[in-house]
Amino acid sequence: MARIIAGVGSSHVPAIGAALDNGKTEEPYWKRVFSGFEKSQAWMRELKPDVAIIVYNDHASAFSVEMIPTFALGCAAEFPPADEGWGPRPVPVVEGYPALASHIAQSVILDEFDLTICNKMEVDHGMTVPMNLLFGKVGKNSHWPCPVIPLAVNVVMYPPPTGHRCYMLGRAIRRAVESYPDDLRVVIFGTGGLSHQISGPRAGLINSKWDKNFLDNLSKNPKKLAKIPHIDYMREAGAEGIEMVMWLIMRGALDAKVDEVYRFYTVPASKTAVGHIILENRKRGSSWAARSKPAAKRKRAAARATSAVRRSGKR
Ligand SMILES: [Fe+2]
Repeated sequence: MARIIAGVGSSHVPAIGAALDNGKTEEPYWKRVFSGFEKSQAWMRELKPDVAIIVYNDHASAFSVEMIPTFALGCAAEFPPADEGWGPRPVPVVEGYPALASHIAQSVILDEFDLTICNKMEVDHGMTVPMNLLFGKVGKNSHWPCPVIPLAVNVVMYPPPTGHRCYMLGRAIRRAVESYPDDLRVVIFGTGGLSHQISGPRAGLINSKWDKNFLDNLSKNPKKLAKIPHIDYMREAGAEGIEMVMWLIMRGALDAKVDEVYRFYTVPASKTAVGHIILENRKRGSSWAARSKPAAKRKRAAARATSAVRRSGKR
């Protein structure tokens, strides 16, 4: 059976993609951002997922004000990078996973979550920037390390879905993945945020206290986050802070209790708070944090565990 093994939360600031594409990653302003993802890329190289589900929002690239689905699942074999006004980003075409995507569509829709099925869709920075941050820079004529199933969420035109609806959709996606017969290791991304507002009198708003609380609760108490109404995101995290509801789809797809194995937060990047978190489903002793301990520490921990078992008389 397929299973979701880990979740990634990541901002998808377009200027991060532009900095990468224009060779600015070593400039101090951008190095501060990119250096926070070096451990994440090592984690991803070790994880080697078979497929990624990436929850993101389209920024008037594939959709427009004329037509915006609330939830749109990419079931195509490939997703070209969109032209966002200065040509498509120099990244590879994203290869899809139509068999699993169609299975998820069937399972989730019959589970009463009405997704729009997209058999042709271009993808913008909302998806490709987090892919770069986690997979590293990949040449335009090369291949991303794994196929991707995009899930586009409307957070640009009122009303976006509630945090609770997003969290419950994540749970439905998990049920869908676990009913797929092939053995696949799946990682799910939630992207967007954190606090930011790009226009109006409050342009440039960043609320680090709110962001930290959000990250804390994402690990330990996501159901609390699922109750936050839209107006609180708007007031506390800025107009574009509503993107954070997409992280709740990722979180809903994970176990109730997870291991937070990495977190990174920096401000600002193009007037936006950049947040990032890696959560793994619990499997005793197998989290990245445990695997990353030096060998001697691991041996001492194993010896302590063995002697504790012997003392308790269990084998
Ligand atoms: Fe966005």
